[in-house]
Amino acid sequence: MPEIIKTNENAISSEQEKELQLEYIKKAALLLSSYEKMIGHKPTACVTTFGCQMNARDSEKLLGILYKVGFTETEDENADFVLYNTCTVRDNANKRVYGRLGTLLGMKKRNPYKIITLCGCMMQEQSVIENIQTSYRGVNLIFGTHNIYKFAELLFHTLENVINNVKDIIIDIWKDTDKIVEALPVRRKYPFKSGVNIMFGCNNFCTYCIVPYVRGRERSRSSKEIIDEIKDLVKDGVVEVMLLGQNVNSYGKGLEEDITFAKLLQKVEEIEGLKRIRFMTSHPKDLSDELIEVMKNSKKICRHLHLPAQSGSSRVLKAMNRKYTREDYLALVRKLRDAMPDLALTTDLIIGFPGETMEDIDMTASLVDEVGYDNAFTFIYSRRTGTPAASMPQVLTDEEIQKGFDKVLERVQENARKRTAGLEGTEAEVLVEEVNHQDETFVTGRMSNNLLVHFKGDKNLIGTLVNVKLSENKGFYYIGEMI
Ligand code: SAH
Ligand code: SF4
Ligand code: F3S
Repeated sequence: MPEIIKTNENAISSEQEKELQLEYIKKAALLLSSYEKMIGHKPTACVTTFGCQMNARDSEKLLGILYKVGFTETEDENADFVLYNTCTVRDNANKRVYGRLGTLLGMKKRNPYKIITLCGCMMQEQSVIENIQTSYRGVNLIFGTHNIYKFAELLFHTLENVINNVKDIIIDIWKDTDKIVEALPVRRKYPFKSGVNIMFGCNNFCTYCIVPYVRGRERSRSSKEIIDEIKDLVKDGVVEVMLLGQNVNSYGKGLEEDITFAKLLQKVEEIEGLKRIRFMTSHPKDLSDELIEVMKNSKKICRHLHLPAQSGSSRVLKAMNRKYTREDYLALVRKLRDAMPDLALTTDLIIGFPGETMEDIDMTASLVDEVGYDNAFTFIYSRRTGTPAASMPQVLTDEEIQKGFDKVLERVQENARKRTAGLEGTEAEVLVEEVNHQDETFVTGRMSNNLLVHFKGDKNLIGTLVNVKLSENKGFYYIGEMI
């Protein structure tokens, strides 16, 4: 039988909640020494992330707590504690989780003290929970997106169960929350760059998309909290931040302070020691002239904008509830390019939305040519139960959709190659991210426009900005020389 622990939602302030969770970290740390005696070695923990950058950032927070409690982190799923932070945006994301969960439960047969935890967007779906309860026995803890800040508390109860040999699964899923609890421990993946949540949830209800249902309503963090967090990150060695939200352009709505996303960017720009600012995602319908002006005049905002178009057909865009037409989108692109000729533009495109015809897909392919994207993520439409599009009829066959997809992908790749080739021989400022995986005498860095460059260098360069000549075009990246 599952044990449904209903953690306490809104009875206390965010500050009190944070204190409470810090207490639970201490309490869980005490229990961990008993667990260590049981298993006979220092407990290890592995956090695996599926999905978007928001999930990646959440995983850093979860890992921060595990580390504080006393786990040693590892990337090996043979670990004593394994956590899957899941995604449900497309069906293949769910399939991957189920597949790997099967393997994980197999490992548990050899290590009965193994603790398996699931969280993230997929867990907000009732059918998923039912499926796991009936077909994936052996999971210890499940929680959702809204109560992620309760992780320390839930971890404590889970350790208590394991130590007392109680086999119940703990399931704690909330429908929604309006609380934001931050400033708990974090373990960053990169020392020199970090995501920063500026808002949570989404109110847009694009008809294909499940995110608003699993992430709840849009809520923004106060600018002071965001700025304080970034200042702390900079003190800790961070030079590049990525401001995160499902629709950053509507940042500030509902806050008491008078603030827009553009104004927030101006405040972030002033932070001394911070070198680069990125953000995602921008919804075209809310991208303001004020934002274009701020980007244009900024020394720190990267020359890259991810601007999901989803489709090049106004008819389909309407059915998607995107609230702009192809013409609106193209006009916006022109405005952006006029203001910043060197701006790199990337996008997301969906192929095979219900009701879409081959002509619609052709419009998407021609949009790619007309905009000349630097790159694009192309997705085949995936039916998500509970979304409006799930009940709309499909007119194309799977084969036709695949053909359309291949056609759009070809346009994307050709444009990406063209855009990349245009930079040959120029110089660029690059943030060095890591030693090259194939050749240790090379390092890999990222240009302001998000392109990767590999060049001779060593690990001491990691986290620094260097000027590089883009000498050899490799199609989607460059081999360069440090100047
Ligand atoms: N908030 C972001 C995107 C979040 S999801 C935005 O509005 O741009 C990331 C991408 O997944 C979307 O841009 C969309 O292209 C794709 N996506 C979302 N739901 C999908 C579905 N049901 N099928 C296929 N792709 C989908
Ligand atoms: Fe999904 Fe649309 Fe919200 Fe993006 S803006 S998360 S695509 S509903
Ligand atoms: Fe996936 Fe959730 Fe992000 S559904 S794309 S992990 S918000």
